[in-house]
Amino acid sequence: MKGITHPKNDIALSPAGGEHICDIIERVSVDRRSFLHSAVSSAALASVGGITLGGLVSTVHAAPIPASFRGPGIGFDSIPAETRRRNVEVHRGSAEAVLDRVTVPAGYKAEVFVAWGDPIMPGATPFIGDASETAAQQARQFGMHNDGMHFFPLREPGFSAFGGGVSSERGVLCVNNEYTHEDILFTKGQELGANYTIDKTRKSQNAHGVSILEARRVAGKWTVVKNSPYGRRITANTPCRISGPAAGHSLMQAKAYNISDTATTPTGGATDGRSCFGTVNNCAHGITPWGTYLTCEENWNGNFSSDLPVDQSAATEIGKLNRRYGVSKDGFSVYNWHKNDERFDPAKNPKEPHLFGWVVEIDPFAPNSQPVKRTALGRFKHESAQYVVDAANNVAFYMGDDERNEYIYKFVCAGKFDPVNLAANRDLLDNGTLYVARFDANLQGKWIALAPGTTGLDGKALRNNPNFSGANDAEVLAKILIKTRMAADAVGATQMDRPEWTGARPRISGQDEIEIYCTLTNNNRRGGGGTDNSTTSNNPDGSTLAASARPPFDAANPRPDNDFGHIIRWRETGKLVTATTFGWGIFVQCGDSITTKTLAGNYTPNPAFGVGPANYVGNIVDVPAGSADFGAPDGLWFDYFGRLWVQTDQVGDGSGDFINIGANCMVCADPNTGEVRRFLTGPNRCEVTGVTMTPDGKTMFVGVQHPGEDSRANAPTLYSNWPQNQWTVESDGVTALPAGRPRSAVVVITKNDGGVIGS
Ligand code: FEO
Ligand code: CA
Ligand code: CA
Repeated sequence: MKGITHPKNDIALSPAGGEHICDIIERVSVDRRSFLHSAVSSAALASVGGITLGGLVSTVHAAPIPASFRGPGIGFDSIPAETRRRNVEVHRGSAEAVLDRVTVPAGYKAEVFVAWGDPIMPGATPFIGDASETAAQQARQFGMHNDGMHFFPLREPGFSAFGGGVSSERGVLCVNNEYTHEDILFTKGQELGANYTIDKTRKSQNAHGVSILEARRVAGKWTVVKNSPYGRRITANTPCRISGPAAGHSLMQAKAYNISDTATTPTGGATDGRSCFGTVNNCAHGITPWGTYLTCEENWNGNFSSDLPVDQSAATEIGKLNRRYGVSKDGFSVYNWHKNDERFDPAKNPKEPHLFGWVVEIDPFAPNSQPVKRTALGRFKHESAQYVVDAANNVAFYMGDDERNEYIYKFVCAGKFDPVNLAANRDLLDNGTLYVARFDANLQGKWIALAPGTTGLDGKALRNNPNFSGANDAEVLAKILIKTRMAADAVGATQMDRPEWTGARPRISGQDEIEIYCTLTNNNRRGGGGTDNSTTSNNPDGSTLAASARPPFDAANPRPDNDFGHIIRWRETGKLVTATTFGWGIFVQCGDSITTKTLAGNYTPNPAFGVGPANYVGNIVDVPAGSADFGAPDGLWFDYFGRLWVQTDQVGDGSGDFINIGANCMVCADPNTGEVRRFLTGPNRCEVTGVTMTPDGKTMFVGVQHPGEDSRANAPTLYSNWPQNQWTVESDGVTALPAGRPRSAVVVITKNDGGVIGS
């Protein structure tokens, strides 16, 4: 039976066989790119009232192209920074807090769409408000601390693979839930000691992972479809498959467990290294051209901890891995999963950490399908994965490893993307070559293959490096992938200032380069800064403790004590993703244009900036100057029309180095001119992360994560009571949003005139 909340039966729910709607949609968008190529901008299209796929072809041919046209442009006025000074009202108990609300430009409307604890699937219960939900209730609610996300549109009547019928009012929204704030997740006291029972552990695990929900616009208002069959939670305990070259390796054969709501019980054996439970610390994301969702495991090491010593010996294989990836006895102190769940105790289950740090592929239209950990893409602290298909149908994924002094990677699939027989793409992520980037001072770069035959800095092929030795090259490759960071150390890749999101500039409006951008959020270890004022690099033998190196500044990371971060971009040689060389440049150095901060004496100054404020001022292009200063760029995404959106993750209360920059924000940048305007500011002590749009560009979803960060269980609203203090939100049509604690949420933004966001 079909109802208003039930998908039309022309949409395949089966994981097996058939072409998924998203495949077709992607094919349409490939066509859309070719239509737009060398033709006209979305702004010009919008100005004549049509950018829907169905109207696209005729609109392109009909629209006048202004002589001055250079790109999509930015059509809104920058909003002011949300600084402590600006907010003179006494707020949230502190006169010095930033305003506890989301602000967008005049002419735009922001509403909360879905927040932590909201019901998103059949059998779910509404958010209670005092965090007294059980683990079972959380398992059907929107997870905590949302991050990267993507809107997969559904088809509508009139659908054609060559234009039209792709909904901008109904789709499946996949949202990562990166981590939990345990003081907010639980009613006071439940987060502590003996009260932290297996149910509390399971609740925390169930607040992690991915939330998949059906989004629908009804009478102009976006709502979560209750009881949608697409609604799904993927958690730290969801059965997953492991595929690719590292699957089955002995390092992947962790202890086997039976998992129930009340216990994690060892079976006495080990797994075959091809299956595991769950995904955690899902930061940013990606999609594939065949229409699946990618969730990236970032700070997974923090979910492991122990009451026993954990091997960190530089002389043992697992000890070296634990050192290089930051697996320790202490983990992130907020987590106590190991007390009730020995799967996350690396002293008792030393191979379990190897099952995390991967890119995980999920079919958003197949709720019963198993997520797949694709080991060919390497193991590190994955931030995001941006795909590009080149003109020869080669497909690559660009990825950053977010920790100080880690690397930028790309994975090139061995097989070509097949735009006709989409089922043939299904396992493209299992075979290919993983490369790591070296940025040279002459603005050229090299992709170095992490392959058994690649020669390392020691003059030996990786297959002859003891870290990766194996019975044959298949095993060598498996070890290279499990120990990706150590392989990148061995070949001399460039240590970067915390690579966050990667984004690909659309090939539209005469822009046919393969041009990739990556946020480098900050690095307070760049240029020394240790007590002995010395610089060090990662050891080529892979023995460096995670994030302990203090490398000198270099051309690609030019600022010591890089507080405000920068954005780097590069173009693939020959416009092919298979290129092994590229040209690069720095798109912007973020900063505070009126800062007086000077470089501390324990950093080695770059003569280009000296020790004065120049090191921190940056070179943001904004009018008037200083109107759109920002720092610590993290989220980065090109919309379908070529605008670059950048989101920040800095100190969330606008204090310290951010006294002039203010609250976390989202800016829009013009990739042609570099001009930046501020579009959104976030509530107190939040991070702005996650952005996606409907295909028509008229609805934008933006993530607000961890408002009120660092508040404690005895005063959860000390720093923030967002979003309930900004909006009264209907739940089941009648109930006002319960107050009592701040909640991470997705905000939906529309333009009052119904136009394209950013235009
Ligand atoms: Fe989860 Fe690197 O941000
Ligand atoms: Ca991030
Ligand atoms: Ca972040």
